[in-house]
Amino acid sequence: MPRHYVVPSLITWLMLLVCQSGCCLLDSITAASNFSLVPNYINTSNLHQDYCERKRKLPNFVGWRLSTEKLTATLPIDNIQENYVREVQNSIFSVVYPTPLKSRVLLVAVSKEVLEDILDLDFSVSETEEFLHLVSGTKILLESLPLAHRYGGHQFGSWAGQLGDGRAHLIGVYTNRFGDRWELQLKGSGRTPYSRNGDGRAVLHSSVREFLGSEAMHFLGIPTSRAASLVVSDDDVWRDRFYNGNIKKERGAIVLRIAKSWFRVGSLEILAFSGELELLRTLLDLVISEHFPSINVNDSNRYLIFFSEVVSETAHLIALWMSVGFAHGVCNTDNFSLLSITIDYGPFGFMDSYDPDFVPNTSDDERRYKIGNQANVGMFNLNKLFQALNPLLDIRQKQLASQILEGYPEQYYKHFTELFKAKLGLLGDSEDDGYLIAFLLKLMEDTKADFTMTFRQLSEISQDQLKELSIPQEFWALQDVAKHKFFANWVAMYLLRLKRNTGDSYSERSRRMIGINPRYVLRNWMAESAVQKAERNDFSEVRLLQQVLQHPFQMQTVAERAGYAQRPPAWAKEIKVSCSS
Ligand SMILES: *[C@@H]1O[C@H](CO)[C@@H](O)[C@H](O)[C@H]1NC(C)=O
Ligand SMILES: *[C@@H]1O[C@H](CO)[C@@H](O)[C@H](O)[C@H]1NC(C)=O
Ligand SMILES: *[C@@H]1O[C@H](CO)[C@@H](O)[C@H](O)[C@H]1NC(C)=O
Repeated sequence: MPRHYVVPSLITWLMLLVCQSGCCLLDSITAASNFSLVPNYINTSNLHQDYCERKRKLPNFVGWRLSTEKLTATLPIDNIQENYVREVQNSIFSVVYPTPLKSRVLLVAVSKEVLEDILDLDFSVSETEEFLHLVSGTKILLESLPLAHRYGGHQFGSWAGQLGDGRAHLIGVYTNRFGDRWELQLKGSGRTPYSRNGDGRAVLHSSVREFLGSEAMHFLGIPTSRAASLVVSDDDVWRDRFYNGNIKKERGAIVLRIAKSWFRVGSLEILAFSGELELLRTLLDLVISEHFPSINVNDSNRYLIFFSEVVSETAHLIALWMSVGFAHGVCNTDNFSLLSITIDYGPFGFMDSYDPDFVPNTSDDERRYKIGNQANVGMFNLNKLFQALNPLLDIRQKQLASQILEGYPEQYYKHFTELFKAKLGLLGDSEDDGYLIAFLLKLMEDTKADFTMTFRQLSEISQDQLKELSIPQEFWALQDVAKHKFFANWVAMYLLRLKRNTGDSYSERSRRMIGINPRYVLRNWMAESAVQKAERNDFSEVRLLQQVLQHPFQMQTVAERAGYAQRPPAWAKEIKVSCSS
C-alpha cells in the first residue's frame, strides 16, 4: 500500500493563487501543490510577502513542489505496482514507495548550498520535522509518484542484464527559481523491483563517503551529482564488508542526492538489448530535449550529435578526474551518466601517492578500474553507448559515429594536457609541454610523491627556492620528488618553459596555480576518521570536512590543525575501501 501523507489545505491553495497573481514571476510552478509537508499554521499574508522578499528561499515547504509528472507522462511506467523483484519490460520506471527506516533518525549533515542555491529552501528548514520526514523517505508528496529506474549495464566488462535502482527512489523533480530541473533521489531507502538480492539499504560508512565525496567534487569544479542531506538510523543492516565471511551489523543511512538527470549509459543499453526500439527513441528524445538544448529535436542527425556531445563531455570529465587524482572505482556502464557528470560514489578514492595503478576498490584484483585506466574505460563505455544507439542510426551515421569515437583519445589527451598545463601554470603552447608533464609524473611515480601536494607546493614555492633546489621542510611532497636524480633536470626544463609565459609574473602564476591545485581533497584516511566518529554519533568531523572541502583551494587554519595538508598518517595505507555499501 502506498503511503500517502496528505494535508491538502484550502489555505495553501489560496495562498498560492494570491502569489501567482502577485509579484513572483518565477512562481508559475506553484500552480498545483498538494505538497504534504504543510506546517500547522500558515499566515497567508506574511507568507506571500516572504515569498517575494526572499526570492523563493522558503522557510518551510509551503508551495514547494516536487513532481515526477513529466517523466511519468512521457515515459511508460511498469504496470505492476507490487514491490517484488522481477524482470521489467517495456518501461523506464516502476512506481515504488520508499521503506521508511524504523528507528530514530538523526541528521548527520546537510548541504546549505544545495538547499539554498538549488532547492530554494532556507537552511532553517533543515531543523524541521518535515525535512527529516522528506529526507528519510517517511513522507512522500501526493503528486509525486516515487520511481525506481530500470536500467542495465556492462559490469566489469560483461553484459549484466537488468540492474536498475535497487535501493534508490526518485522522489521528485524540482524546478528552481532559475528554471533548472533537479531530480531528487533517496539512496538507501529500501527495496525495489530492481533490488535483486540486496536489502535496499545503504550503510553509514558508504553514505558519509558519498555525501562528502560528491560535495567535494563539486567544489573542485567537477561536474557531479550533489548531496543535500544524510541521515542515519539505528536500523540494523548486515554487511560482509570485505567479502571475507565476516558479517557485521551496521546502521542504515539515507542520502538525499540530486542531479539534473540520473539516466545512464545502461538506461539506453537495456532498451537496445531487449529490442525496445520505440522506447529507446522516446527516452533519447526526452533526454535530448531536456538536457541538450543545443540539439534540435527534429534534426534527423540528433542521435549522432548527441553521441558526439557525450563523447566530448566524457573525455573532458575523465580528464578532470585525473587532474585531481580521483578514481571512481566502478566505472560500469550503469554508473556512467549520459550527462557526463560523476555519479554513484562507491569505492572511489583520491590517490595519495601518485601511482597510475592506484585502485580504490581493494577487491578489484584485476585493477580494471585503476586510475590510469579510466580513460580507456571511458572509451569502452562510449563504445557501449554507440552500440546502444546503433539501431537508430543509418549506415552513414554509423560510420560518422565510429569516427567520432575514434576521436575520443585525442579529445581526452587535449583536455588532459590543458588541465595539467594549467596545474603547472603554463601559458601558451610549447611543443614539449606533454613531455614536461609526463616527465614530472614519472618522477612522482618513482618517488611515490603525493599527487595533490606536489602540485600544490609547486604553486606555493618561490621561484628562487626552486631554482636553487633548496626545498624547505614544509614542502614535504616536493622534497620527496626532489630525491629523484632527474629532479634538477626537470626543474631546469620547467623554469625555462616558464620564461615563455608571456606577460606573466611569479605572483600571477602562483595565484593561478593556487586556484587550480587544491590543498585539501577527501583522502581516504580523512573520510575514514570522520566515519569512525560518526559511527558513535559524533558528526563533528563529517561537518568539519564538509566545511573545509567547500574551499579546497584556500588555506584554512582548522584544516591545517587537523593535518589535512600533511603527509597521510601511516595507517592510511592499511585502509581497505569496503565494497559493501
Ligand atoms: C519540431 O517539429 C514540430 C512539428 O513539426 C514543431 O512543432 C516544432 O516546433 C519543431 N521543433 C523545433 C525545435 O524545431
Ligand atoms: C554501480 O553499478 C553497480 C551495478 O553495476 C551497482 O551495483 C552499484 O551499486 C553502483 N555503484 C554505486 C556506487 O552506486
Ligand atoms: C570491487 O571489485 C570486485 C572485483 O572485480 C567486484 O566484484 C566488486 O563488485 C567491486 N566493488 C564495487 C563496490 O563495485
